[in-house]
Amino acid sequence: MCGIVAAAARREVSEILLEGLRRLEYRGYDSAGMALIDNEHNLQLHKQQGKVCELEKAQKLRPHLGCTGIAHTRWATHGEPSGVNAHPHISGQRIALVHNGIIENHMRLREELMAQGYEFASATDTEVVVHLLHRALEGGKSLLKAMQDTVGRLDGAYALAAIDVDHPDQVVAARKGSPLVIGIGIGENFLASDQLALRQVTDRFIFLEEGDVVLISPSTLQIFDQAGAPVERKKSLISEAVEVADLGGFDHYMLKEIHEQPRALAATFAQAANYPGIDECFGAGAGAVFDRVKAVQIVACGTSFHAGMVARYWLEELAGIPCQVEVASEFRYRKRVTHADTLLVTVSQSGETADSLAALRNAQPGEFVASLVVSNVANSSLVRDSDLVFLTKAGMEIGVASTKAFTTQLVGLLMLTVALGRRSSMSEQKQQDVLAALRGLPEYVQQTLELNDDIERLSEAFIPKHHALFLGRGIQYPIAMEGALKLKEISYIHAEAYPAGELKHGPLALVDDDMPVVAVAPSDDLLEKLKSNLEEVRSRGGELFVFADRQAGFKSEARVQVLPMPHCPEVIKPIVYTVALQLLSYHVALQKGTDVDKPRNLAKSVTVE
Ligand code: G6P
Repeated sequence: MCGIVAAAARREVSEILLEGLRRLEYRGYDSAGMALIDNEHNLQLHKQQGKVCELEKAQKLRPHLGCTGIAHTRWATHGEPSGVNAHPHISGQRIALVHNGIIENHMRLREELMAQGYEFASATDTEVVVHLLHRALEGGKSLLKAMQDTVGRLDGAYALAAIDVDHPDQVVAARKGSPLVIGIGIGENFLASDQLALRQVTDRFIFLEEGDVVLISPSTLQIFDQAGAPVERKKSLISEAVEVADLGGFDHYMLKEIHEQPRALAATFAQAANYPGIDECFGAGAGAVFDRVKAVQIVACGTSFHAGMVARYWLEELAGIPCQVEVASEFRYRKRVTHADTLLVTVSQSGETADSLAALRNAQPGEFVASLVVSNVANSSLVRDSDLVFLTKAGMEIGVASTKAFTTQLVGLLMLTVALGRRSSMSEQKQQDVLAALRGLPEYVQQTLELNDDIERLSEAFIPKHHALFLGRGIQYPIAMEGALKLKEISYIHAEAYPAGELKHGPLALVDDDMPVVAVAPSDDLLEKLKSNLEEVRSRGGELFVFADRQAGFKSEARVQVLPMPHCPEVIKPIVYTVALQLLSYHVALQKGTDVDKPRNLAKSVTVE
C-alpha cells in the first residue's frame, strides 16, 4: 500500500529515496514519484504509473538532484492509477506533498479551494492538502504553522510529508491514523511510513504519535503534539539485521514462504522453550493479566481474521474460555457489550492494518482487561500500542497472500490457549498433549509439502473453472474459508467457503458438474456428518476434491479425487491442512498465469480504511 520516504540532508538524496521506495515495494502499489529541491531552489518532479524501476529509469534519463526530497508509492483509492494521480502533488510550483491515508472531507475542501481559484490537476483526495498548505504559506505562515493549520482542516487518516522551495532544507510532516517514523542520521534526518525504508541510512528512530507535526532539517528535528506544543518522543534503537528479500531459488515469494513454514513454525514455538511457563512469551506482566481473563475478544482482518476464527474453537473447546471473533472494520464501529474481564486480542501480520489499529485504539477505557497483539513485525504500530505482544517468527513475508504468517499466528494462538487454559479447565495432560503436538508440527507440515506434485496434478481441474466451493465443519470451517480466500486472491476464481451443514440452505443450488467442491475432511468427530454433506454434492453431479487422511476412509473414484494427507494430532490439523490448500491455490494461479506475489488490486499492508 502507499509508502512515504523523505530526506533532509547535506548530500544528494535521490538514490536514498529510491532505495527507500524499493524497500516498501512488496506492500503493493500502482505508481511512484519523487520530488526534490535542487541547488537553485527549484522543484524537480518525476512521477508515473508503474514500478519504482520505471521511476529509476526516468531519473537516469533526466537526473534530478537535491539534498531535500520526498518520495511515494501510491495504491489508488481516489482516482485511477495514473501519472497524474501519482504523488507528489504540487501547488504553485513551490510545494510538493505526499500522503498516505484518506482525506474524508476532500470534496468540501476542493469546492472551497476552487472557489478561491485553485485548479486541480488530479482526481485524488490528496491534492486539497497541498493547496491548503500553499494557501497558508502564501498567507505568510511559517512552514510549521502552515502544516498545523492545514491538518486542522482535515478529517480522515493521514501521514503527510511536504517540501517548499522557500524553505529549501526542511521537510514538514504530520501523522494521524497512518504511521510515520523519523530516522535520525548524523547531520541529516529522514522520514518514512515504515522504518524498513530507512534502515539503509540509520538505526535510530522516533515513532511519531497521533496528531504529531514535525519539522526536520539536516541538523534539527522538532516535534509538536496535537495541541501544537513542542514535545520529546522516545528514541528507539533498532539493531536487529534487516532481512533481505531474496527468492532463494524459488519462482515466487509465495512458494518460498509456503516452504519456509516448517522452520517458521519451529522458531515460533521455540519461544516456549525459553519460557517454560509460556506466559512470558506474551511479554512482561502477561501472567498477572492472564490470571484475570474470563473471556477473549479477537479482532482482525483478512487471513488474520481466519486465524482468530480457528482460535475460537481452541479457546472454547480446550480452555473453556468464551471467545468472540470479529472483523476489525465492523468491530470498530459497532456499539457493543463487552463482558467483564475480557482480553482484547488483535491478530495482524503487519501490525499496521488500519482497521485493526483503530479497533484497538477505539476500545473504551476499562472495557478490556488488557490488549494483546499477535504480530509478525516488532516495532509495528499494533505492537507499540498493545499491552502484551506475541511475536510470530515467520520472518519477512513478501507475497501478498499470507501463508507462513497465518500458520505461525495459529501457533501463537494455540500457545495462548494453553496459557489461559491452565488457569481454567485444561488438564495438565491436555496441556502437555498440545505442546507435544506443536513440537511435532514442523514434521507434519514437511510431509504435506512433499505432496506438492499430487496437489499440482489436482489443481489442473480448476484452471477452466470460474467458481469453487470450499467445505469444512467445526474447526475446519475457517480453514475452508482460508482456502477459498487464497484461491480467489491469487487465481481470481470466485471461491466461497461454507460450513458443510449449511450446504442445503442455499449453496447446493449452485452445485453442478461445473462446480469443483473442495472438502477439508480429516478424520474427526464431525467426519460422518461431513460425509453426508459430500454425498449431497455427489448426487447432484458436483466434482469433489477431498483433503483427508487415510483414517477418514475416502476413496478416489469417478468425480471424487482424494488427496491423502498425513495423519496428525487432531489439534494441529487446521495448520497442516492449510498448507495443502496454500499449495492448491498456488498451482492454480501459476497455471492461470496471474501475478502470484502481487495479485491485482490487493496490497500487503492495508494502512487505509
Ligand atoms: C491484506 C493482506 C492480507 C492480510 C490482511 C490483514 O488484505 O493482503 O494477506 O491477511 O491485509 O493484514 P494483517 O497485516 O493485519 O494481518
